[in-house]
Amino acid sequence: MRAAGDPELKVYGIFGWPLGHTVSPVFQNRAFDYYHLKSIYFAFERPPSRFRFLMRHLKSFMLDGFNVTVPYKETVIAYLDRLSPEARIIGSVNTVKKEGNRWAGYNTDLHGFLAGLREAKFRASGKSGMVLGAGGSARTVVYALAKSGARDIVIANRTLSRARRLVNRFQRQFPKTALRATFLRGKEFERAISEVDILVNATKVGLKPSDGSLLQKKLFPKKKILVYDLIYRPRRTKLLQLAKQCGYKIQNGETMLLHQGAKAFEMWTGKRAPLREMKEALHVALKSQ
Ligand SMILES: NC(=O)c1ccc[n+]([C@@H]2O[C@H](COP(=O)([O-])OP(=O)(O)OC[C@H]3O[C@@H](n4cnc5c(N)ncnc54)[C@H](OP(=O)(O)O)[C@@H]3O)[C@@H](O)[C@H]2O)c1
Repeated sequence: MRAAGDPELKVYGIFGWPLGHTVSPVFQNRAFDYYHLKSIYFAFERPPSRFRFLMRHLKSFMLDGFNVTVPYKETVIAYLDRLSPEARIIGSVNTVKKEGNRWAGYNTDLHGFLAGLREAKFRASGKSGMVLGAGGSARTVVYALAKSGARDIVIANRTLSRARRLVNRFQRQFPKTALRATFLRGKEFERAISEVDILVNATKVGLKPSDGSLLQKKLFPKKKILVYDLIYRPRRTKLLQLAKQCGYKIQNGETMLLHQGAKAFEMWTGKRAPLREMKEALHVALKSQ
């Protein structure tokens, strides 16, 4: 894909399956254009067998860096030469960078999630959190909250064993944060909700127009909390609609998406991400879908 003899031409992309209408190419290409870089970012929608094949041949690829999304954030790790400390602990990579002849994996979702917290002016230190879900993104969220000094975090998941695994993964790493696993419903779940300062939805519930909210209005605590849904399309899930009706502060996943991409751009190019332009491109892309 690289023109012979032009070392300035760089190729990036995102791997996922399915990728649907991924908006990453839109805001990454806008950032390359901003600096007049001879770089381009593609969407590589590849099924698992082809993804594994491509990763086995990474060394002969003419790619300079790439993102990975569902379902490859864990799969990709086996093909990389090194991981950042955060990516290793979280066990999830969404940004890969070529460093010399080696491929390094990073977790810039973490950076994106924290940017969303900052935008909502929420400081996790000393606070109680609940994370709905125990998948890859939930791991990033639990790591971010615990690292920021949260007092306790309840991980509520449909599959309890998965939530317990997440507790085991992080409890030793963060002894000052009390981690607990629970089912996504029932008395224990309801009791835990009444005490949280932040509730994060890291499940897929809310993505489809037919999805309801994992929480009914009567379960929301009386105190004003932050409800953060990682989903960015739709911009306001049923959960966020209910939270808004209750007068809570809400945050969707758009800022997280933007900042995980901005961080990746900075790692690849060594240049400051043109956030205003990237955000504008993201807005337009999300609106037009
Ligand atoms: N804004 C961003 O930049 C950004 C970045 C990453 C992810 N996300 C969003 O985060 C969400 C989670 O992604 P992921 O990569 O963590 O996915 P994942 O690893 O596949 O985990 C999915 C989670 O959703 C739960 N779940 C799925 N269907 C459910 C249902 N019907 N009822 C209750 N729980 C259900 C699963 O529970 P079980 O364990 O019981 O299956 C699991 O905990 C997605 O909506 C994704 O779009 C946003």
